[in-house]
Amino acid sequence: MISEYLSIRPRRLRTSSNLSRLVREVSLEPSKFIMPYFVTHGKFIKEPIKTMPDQFRYSVDELIKELKHVTNLGIGGILLFGVPAHKDELGSESYSDNGIVHQALRGIKDVFPDLIVITDVCLCDYTSHGHCGIVDDRGYVKNDETLEYLAKIAVSYAKAGADIIAPSDMMDGRVRKIRRALDDDGFINIPIMSYSSKYSSSFYEPFRDAADCSPKFGNRKSYQMDYSNSDEAILETQLDLDEGADMIMVKPALSYLDIIYKIKQAFKRPLAAYNVSGEYSMIKAASKLGYLKEDAAALEMLTSIKRAGADIIISYYSLYVAKLLL
Ligand code: PBG
Repeated sequence: MISEYLSIRPRRLRTSSNLSRLVREVSLEPSKFIMPYFVTHGKFIKEPIKTMPDQFRYSVDELIKELKHVTNLGIGGILLFGVPAHKDELGSESYSDNGIVHQALRGIKDVFPDLIVITDVCLCDYTSHGHCGIVDDRGYVKNDETLEYLAKIAVSYAKAGADIIAPSDMMDGRVRKIRRALDDDGFINIPIMSYSSKYSSSFYEPFRDAADCSPKFGNRKSYQMDYSNSDEAILETQLDLDEGADMIMVKPALSYLDIIYKIKQAFKRPLAAYNVSGEYSMIKAASKLGYLKEDAAALEMLTSIKRAGADIIISYYSLYVAKLLL
């Protein structure tokens, strides 16, 4: 029987962990991980986030201490979210030179000039109403007016030292507007990582507690995508690429592995997947209750995202899993 002589058979290759590792198709690399952080005003602050166990809101000094681990583990970069001191209708702290993200950028770049720092561009953390844009008297988000603000935020982050701009607001035309504004200010080499397929998802719930950005009225369904759709993700991604996005994203990741696969097949571009707060907290909570083994579950979750086609994984588990991979 010919099969008796065939040595390249999957079952045999799984007989030892070294053999299995040798033929593995997908493996995780910390250099492809992005770790998100929440940064807040003050000093000596490392405040636990209730809905996201083992995650914290950091003041800039404390964040810098934490980032030593990020660079030592060879994590690809960080994604910054601001928790501002001041909220108003126009989200003015988001484009103020002294905004919390601007302070953090300058502080981080002083100590870690080579660390890739991505800044989320959106108004929801900064507006008193908690929506991702400027709202009119009837409570509707004004798309075109919002674009002006998003461009201002993006340029102000670039000036403060951001390496990549990541718009998450989901207004139409934002990538083009931000690209033009960056170019006009001389930031031609700052790439845009666009949240190109961002679904309206219940898995963002813990984040909204962390960043205190729940909408005070209505929801985000008018500007985030319906999870019943997948062709729409192709269309949205195409539009963002046409407008000048350098990297694209699928968010959330775990319930959207089909979307990650489809987008990677359709567009051979750097693709990030955002393993969002709810995906993180589900595993944390179940592990704390003893229902799951955290190490194994976290590794499996991130590997599945990579296997689906993500090049870059944004995850609150980045540090944890990078340590497991040592
Ligand atoms: C802001 C933003 C959100 C997330 C990232 N950027 C919240 C939202 O859109 O409601 C969620 C990330 C997470 O859940 O980890 N627009």
